[in-house]
Amino acid sequence: MEPKKAEGTGGAPALDPELAGVVEEIRDYWDARTLGVQYVSDPTLERGTAEYFAHIRPWMNPYKFPWIMERIEAEARRIGKGGHLLEIGCGMGFDSLEFLKRGVRVTATDLTPAAVATARRHFEVEGVRAEEVREANALALPFADESFDAVWSNGVLHATGDTPRAIREVWRVLRPGGRAIISHFYRKPSWMYLVHRLGRENIEHRDADPPVNEFYTDEEILAMFEDFEVESAEREHHRALPVAKRGPKAVLYRTLFRPVYNLLPEPLALRWAYKLSVTAVKPEEG
Ligand SMILES: C[S@@+](CC[C@H](N)C(=O)[O-])C[C@H]1O[C@@H](n2cnc3c(N)ncnc32)[C@H](O)[C@@H]1O
Repeated sequence: MEPKKAEGTGGAPALDPELAGVVEEIRDYWDARTLGVQYVSDPTLERGTAEYFAHIRPWMNPYKFPWIMERIEAEARRIGKGGHLLEIGCGMGFDSLEFLKRGVRVTATDLTPAAVATARRHFEVEGVRAEEVREANALALPFADESFDAVWSNGVLHATGDTPRAIREVWRVLRPGGRAIISHFYRKPSWMYLVHRLGRENIEHRDADPPVNEFYTDEEILAMFEDFEVESAEREHHRALPVAKRGPKAVLYRTLFRPVYNLLPEPLALRWAYKLSVTAVKPEEG
């Protein structure tokens, strides 16, 4: 479907000053740390070259976790060639790229100028063309109501400062019958939540933690989709990560927690998984 043009923040109400301040902090944080840059182990690689993206690719979700690539393939088939997908928080654009390669029209967005510039360059290098690659805040999307056939967002909405509002924005910009595929919420209880609470930090991040990471129970997450028809809600088991942090907490994590957690059988590990992917449909009217 054709995107309807909208000025400013589309139909979303303005952010209150406190939330606007949080969004500024989040923008500064991620602008200095586009996801993927931390995996560059060869300092001689020139940013934005084909070799640069190829070097990072194996670390990124669709290539690391086969079920994410399968989800992209299945959704691309459903959306169909010419269907229009919005990605919120595209980072370097690896997920959008896979939709583009499958003939889906994509508007790729991120809060930060660095991510937008990198994703734009990435598509250029790969010879694909997005409808638009632009800055956009998940909490006030600059698109008119019912602009998209699908919205994809992986690892983003829990980090925006107001997850329920971000889900309402997804609802607003989807056409009736449109699909929301929203992944990577921080579940609780989960091993990540435990480590976060006990260690008072998010072990995943190398230097500073992101300003916001909201943990929710599965029930709380699903409640945010109450206006949708939820098609699936799948926990995703990732092994506990190798971390680069230093200090006594990191040593405990590395020597005690991680080896034990990573030996857990899959069903038990899934109970404590920290990600939940929700696929939900905005019902047709009437
Ligand atoms: C963990 S990274 C995930 C990036 C990408 N989805 C991926 O899987 O590679 C989180 C991304 O969300 C973006 N982000 C954070 N808050 C946002 C907001 N309010 N609106 C849009 N993007 C946001 C950040 O700039 C960052 O690129």
